[in-house]
Amino acid sequence: MASKNLLLLAGDGIGPEAMAEVKKLISAMNDKLGSGFVTDEGLVGGCAYDAHGAAISDADMAKAMAADAVLFGAVGGPKWDAVPYEVRPEAGLLRLRKDMELFANLRPAICYPALAASSSLKQDVVEGLDILIVRELTGGVYFGEPKQIIDLGNGQKRGIDTQVYDTFEIERISGVAFELARTRKNHVTSMEKRNVMKSGVLWNEVVTQTHKARYADVKLDHMLADAGGMQLVRWPKQFDVIVTDNLFGDMLSDIAAMLTGSIGMLPSASLGAPDAKTKKRKALYEPVHGSAPDISGKGIANPIAMVASFAMCMRYSFGMVTEADRLESAIAAVLDDGLRTRDIHSPGMTEVGTTEMGDAIIAKFLG
Ligand code: NAD
Ligand code: IPM
Ligand code: MN
Repeated sequence: MASKNLLLLAGDGIGPEAMAEVKKLISAMNDKLGSGFVTDEGLVGGCAYDAHGAAISDADMAKAMAADAVLFGAVGGPKWDAVPYEVRPEAGLLRLRKDMELFANLRPAICYPALAASSSLKQDVVEGLDILIVRELTGGVYFGEPKQIIDLGNGQKRGIDTQVYDTFEIERISGVAFELARTRKNHVTSMEKRNVMKSGVLWNEVVTQTHKARYADVKLDHMLADAGGMQLVRWPKQFDVIVTDNLFGDMLSDIAAMLTGSIGMLPSASLGAPDAKTKKRKALYEPVHGSAPDISGKGIANPIAMVASFAMCMRYSFGMVTEADRLESAIAAVLDDGLRTRDIHSPGMTEVGTTEMGDAIIAKFLG
């Protein structure tokens, strides 16, 4: 059996609370199904800064590079608001993404039938929604140089971030989007701002060329990213796969989160390129939400995004498609039973805490 070495990086705030539910699930799968997961743990974010003075230690970074997959909770919080930029909790996540070359971030937004009435949008707008945002994750303004604050010497400072994209980066992320579209509704919408940004002009050109050369069978639309945000809340079901850059993808996926009822519902997979020899991809799986300092420690966080991220891990890193499907069905079934954490609660439903929600999903999954 191929190895299934997982590194768990729970992080800060509600990260460890959500991760605890996945740990229970992994133990249950090992005990009852002989799934053979081997787990190790490390520190990332504010807790790593407190322990080592860095948002991730070199030792934990090495463990992440060696693991078959990394499960990541969330990082950050007010406790670390004043720490230097370079060692902020978020820097740990950015280092993981950059050093592991996780350029493809898949952020599915699915509206579970039981939650169609829980969205802040009208039911018919979100009912049956199943879209996938493919966010470029290792380039753009997140990593472009120069990135600095300079003192202009006249009492003024200048903050600089630089948006940079090279052809190969746009080619490989659009390739991922087109390939995935072929397994879905065969439709890609590329979002940039070619009306203002040079990198947007190049993005549009390269996506168009990649489409023409290799994916002409897939329907391709282009949309300006600001209009794309508007269309996501006007009529999101017009989309199948959205491919976009690092920053637009960050913002558009938070918007998409609310279509599903709560940001506590959205999982994600961050994937590298397949290794030329082994075909294995480096991969990290994490919820789209953050450390939610406002609710951390209260036992009320929604663990579904984290659990669904583990379903993506089984699907993409271990080919455990049946188990991934079953876990996603277990989430849907628990919601059908009326169980709700506070963020998705509505009248007539049963409010439960993080652990009860986790237990109910595991029980359904084990069936
Ligand atoms: P957030 O996602 O942490 O919280 C936004 C809102 O959504 C809060 O009201 C929170 O209570 C709610 N929420 C989030 N996840 C939830 C869940 N699972 N269940 C129920 N409610 C949930 O975003 P923020 O407040 O802007 O950021 C807080 C910190 O998290 C910051 O330090 C930020 O940098 C960090 N952050 C980390 C990640 C990550 O680790 N991947 C992602 C986003 C933000
Ligand atoms: C996300 C987060 C991160 C991002 C932060 C915490 C670095 O918001 O994963 O969506 O901006 O990418
Ligand atoms: Mn974000």
